[in-house]
Amino acid sequence: MSRWLKVADAAEFESLPMGRQSLPVDVEGFDIVIFKLSNGWAALDDTCSHEFSKLSEGEVWRGRVYCEKHGSSFDCRSGEVQGLPATDDVPSFPVEARGEEIWVELPDFL
Ligand code: FES
Repeated sequence: MSRWLKVADAAEFESLPMGRQSLPVDVEGFDIVIFKLSNGWAALDDTCSHEFSKLSEGEVWRGRVYCEKHGSSFDCRSGEVQGLPATDDVPSFPVEARGEEIWVELPDFL
């Protein structure tokens, strides 16, 4: 059975600069990146599928995150790869705001 966990407070995003609207969080030992997008929230595995750099260190633009290391891009909501050199998607997670709290749904296998 999956479970919802509180992972951040919305206020943590207020001091982040434009283009860096992402926050790395450790959820029970699993690295997840939370994105604040113009139209809501998104959550991905914080590991680039190319050579495992942190996506939370990349730039965010128009709903995509660009890996800082080699420039691969991924859809922030689906994790679908949008630009090379990565060829594999990264896992995405359901995320929602509950008041001022950000919650993520983790599947059983994590
Ligand atoms: S490690 Fe992300 S593009 Fe290479």
